[in-house]
This record gives sequence, structure tokens and C-alpha cells, in this order.
Amino acid sequence: MKIGIIGSGVVGQTLGAKLVERGEDVVLGTRSPGSMDDKRGFGQSLDDWLKTAGSKARVGTFADAAAHGEVVINATSGTVSLEALRLAGEQNLRGKILIDVSNPLDFSKGMPPTLTVCNTDSTGEQIQRAFPAAKVVKTLNTTNVQVMVDPASVAGGDHDLFVSGNDPEAKARVTELLRQWFGWRTVIDLGDITTSRGVEMLLPVWLRLWGALGSPLFNFKIAR
Ligand SMILES: NC(=O)c1ccc[n+]([C@@H]2O[C@H](COP(=O)([O-])OP(=O)(O)OC[C@H]3O[C@@H](n4cnc5c(N)ncnc54)[C@H](OP(=O)(O)O)[C@@H]3O)[C@@H](O)[C@H]2O)c1
Repeated sequence: MKIGIIGSGVVGQTLGAKLVERGEDVVLGTRSPGSMDDKRGFGQSLDDWLKTAGSKARVGTFADAAAHGEVVINATSGTVSLEALRLAGEQNLRGKILIDVSNPLDFSKGMPPTLTVCNTDSTGEQIQRAFPAAKVVKTLNTTNVQVMVDPASVAGGDHDLFVSGNDPEAKARVTELLRQWFGWRTVIDLGDITTSRGVEMLLPVWLRLWGALGSPLFNFKIAR
């Protein structure tokens, strides 16, 4: 499957490398494909990423990645996702599933970060409003990136993920992709895109759990 990833940080790199390893056809998008040796946030340089991800991985602009993808993944900070997706191009997202893994975290005043949007709105909703022809599915934002691609590394994979979005078929497709790509077993459909508020507002809890547990390798499990 052709996948476009908007975002060159540790999340885009980790998802991209895993998807290439699975045999998917991935273009990783960045605003600066000419700066291949710059370290990218918590990730590696894109030169190093290409070495890790293998010869089939490719790097392009956000627009290249979005145009390439049958499915597009937004892996940018929620504080800049609208800007990033505008650069990706509305025409390149039209009619496509847009998996949104972002969180609207503002680190400018130190730790813990605050949410730049919450309660009555969310990044997931902002993206869906700005790109009404894309099928936005919010997911994976409630778990660490290593757990995203390897849920079995925590409690043998016996824990939960959520999906939010307005298009039931898109959510069902993403649920199936999460199972095929990474092995996610339990994906709870929370409802329409307004339910992104809840999963984005889990981040303050997630961040405090990280502090309390001393490791990001955990996840939510809903007992019922
Ligand atoms: N780290 C985790 O374990 C984890 C877990 C769950 C969810 N998330 C979420 O995943 C997302 C990605 O996280 P990350 O750490 O990989 O990357 P990030 O540092 O949040 O974002 C990196 C991307 O944002 C782009 N960017 C930065 N400023 C921009 C601007 N003004 N306009 C347009 N694009 C801009 C960068 O472009 P360039 O490529 O040009 O540099 C880069 O592609 C975040 O929303 C994060 O909250 C992370």
C-alpha cells in the first residue's frame, strides 16, 4: 500500500520504518528534504533514517508524501498540524483516509506541556473542519511511539487503542490496518471526530503516568 507520512520526527520515522519493514510503499514528508543530515527532534537525521528504514524508503516534501499516499498519516505536532497539512495540499488529501496521531502539546513553558486546544475542540476536529473532503481518523495518540508499532512489547499486547472519526468505513479500515501493520488487538470506536477531545485530553494523564512509572512503555487498558 502507498502511504504518505506528514512529519519527519521520531513518530514519522518510527511508523515509516515499521511500514517499510512490512513491505509498504512509504514516502516520509518534511519541509526540508534538502537537509538530510540535520537531526530531527527526538528522531535521527533523514540520512540515518534512510539507512535504518532500508532501500525502499523515500523522503519528499509534505506535498510529495500526501500525493503519494493512498492513506496519509499526520505525524506533526498538533500545534502546527494545520500549517503542515496546508503545505501537504488539500487536493492531495481529498477523499483519502488521514490518520491523525498528533497531540496539541505546547512545551514552550517547560514540563509538563499544556494543551493548546481542549474541552470544546481538538486538533482532530480542527483538521477535519479545515479538510472536509479528507476522512480524518484520530488514533495512536494515546500511546508512546515504540508501543504504537509494537503493542506486544507491553503486557503481551493486552491493552487498548481508540479511534475517533466521522466516517465509519474509514474507522473500520484503519482498525484493520492497525491490526495488520502493528498487531493491535483491541481498538475501541469512540464515535465521531468530536471524541478526539477526550483522547487528546488523556495526554496530561499519560504524561503524569510517564513520570510516575519512570518509563513510557505502558498503555491504557479499559476493564469491563
Ligand atoms: N513521541 C511519541 O511517543 C508520541 C506518541 C503519541 C503521539 N505523538 C504525537 O506525534 C506527533 C509527532 O511527534 P514527533 O515528536 O515525531 O514530531 P514533532 O516534533 O511534534 O513534529 C515534527 C514535524 O513537525 C513539522 N513542523 C514543525 N514546525 C512546523 C511548522 N511551523 N509548520 C509545518 N510543519 C512544522 C516538522 O517539519 P520538518 O520535517 O520540516 O522539520 C516535522 O515534520 C506529535 O503531535 C506528538 O504529540 C507522539
